[in-house]
Amino acid sequence: MKTSNLRIVRSLREAIGRTPLYRTKYLSKNPSVEIYLKLEFLNPGGSIKDRTALGMIDQAEQDGRLRSNSRIIESSSGNTAIGLAMLAKSSGYHVTAVCDRHLPATKRARLSAFGADTVFLPDTPPGMDTVELRIAIAKHLADAIPDGVSLGQYSDPANPAIHRKTTGPEILDALDGRVTAVIAAVGTCGTISGIGQAMKAYNPAIRIIGVEPIGSIIFGGEDAMYHIQGGGLSFIPSILDRSVIDSGIKVSDASAISAVHLFGKSDGIMVGGTGGLVLKALADLSEQSPDASVLVGIIPDAGDRYLDTLFDSDWLRRHHFSDLTLMPTSGDPLNDTVTDLGCSLNEIPSTRGPALDDLCSRLSVRVPAVVGKFLSASA
Ligand SMILES: Cc1ncc(COP(=O)(O)O)c(C=O)c1O
Repeated sequence: MKTSNLRIVRSLREAIGRTPLYRTKYLSKNPSVEIYLKLEFLNPGGSIKDRTALGMIDQAEQDGRLRSNSRIIESSSGNTAIGLAMLAKSSGYHVTAVCDRHLPATKRARLSAFGADTVFLPDTPPGMDTVELRIAIAKHLADAIPDGVSLGQYSDPANPAIHRKTTGPEILDALDGRVTAVIAAVGTCGTISGIGQAMKAYNPAIRIIGVEPIGSIIFGGEDAMYHIQGGGLSFIPSILDRSVIDSGIKVSDASAISAVHLFGKSDGIMVGGTGGLVLKALADLSEQSPDASVLVGIIPDAGDRYLDTLFDSDWLRRHHFSDLTLMPTSGDPLNDTVTDLGCSLNEIPSTRGPALDDLCSRLSVRVPAVVGKFLSASA
């Protein structure tokens, strides 16, 4: 007899979507305003872009643009290419991602683990939007290479369509249609356009709010550098459906990164930078919303994609976010006791620390035989 609703999937295509809506109690500045987060990092490839990859592959197969042996060449800040690479192998496609050199190491590792190639641009200034250049390179390669296909997430209607068909209805279903506003970060604008179309078709009063980093121009303003990866753009993508968007909010890098760090500590969830944009927007909106509002935010991916940036203390210091680094606190009894033992708190110092045999004997722990060999080898 079935004791749970655990499901068997015969292909990763079936494992995409149906992500949970998490009710956070710590973010809302008005206790009567409910905030739910759609945890898209729980998709099998680790981001909302698994849906985009699935939608675009399905459509291209139906149109006959993809055949076995096709080489998919896609400009990506990492997540879409990861979704494509995850799904491609079992269908006989090969994926090449076109990325800039600031691609985080964890995304790069996933691409190579899934057998994808990555084409890197020449060096570009950190924080520069390289999307137009990457799209042009992907098109050039797709034209030049036999069996090359560029799906083009910025212009492919299959991108918003999958959100209209899955992400939007999942939110309405989970909350029985009780939604006041949905807040999503914008990049290709596939997420916001597709969810917006689904929400407006159900109830035109549901507000659809986009968030972008300051320096992105989708909701106006001057093109400038920003460090939040995945969100923001220096041009207007053709799939953007402005008719379903009520307003656009701009958030600074510092506010988004600070929201990411605060949320890890309050809720135990490590979100990526665009999740930080959404969290900051939600916290502000909860203050301005009428009582009993229900706000839904989309969390596109997890923070462990950004270990070498948003969660790296050197990177944070270099980019003037030093207040977010977790430094040892002098005066804290934990720090004093840890230091007294010769251990270190939160950071690994360049010195080796006290001899291991001294530490073992001080704590009345048997000194393992390998310790002797380790100490004599490194003496
Ligand atoms: C981490 C992350 N967040 C948000 C987005 C924006 O979503 P969309 O492209 O659907 O606008 C992207 C897009 O690549 C992304 O990678």
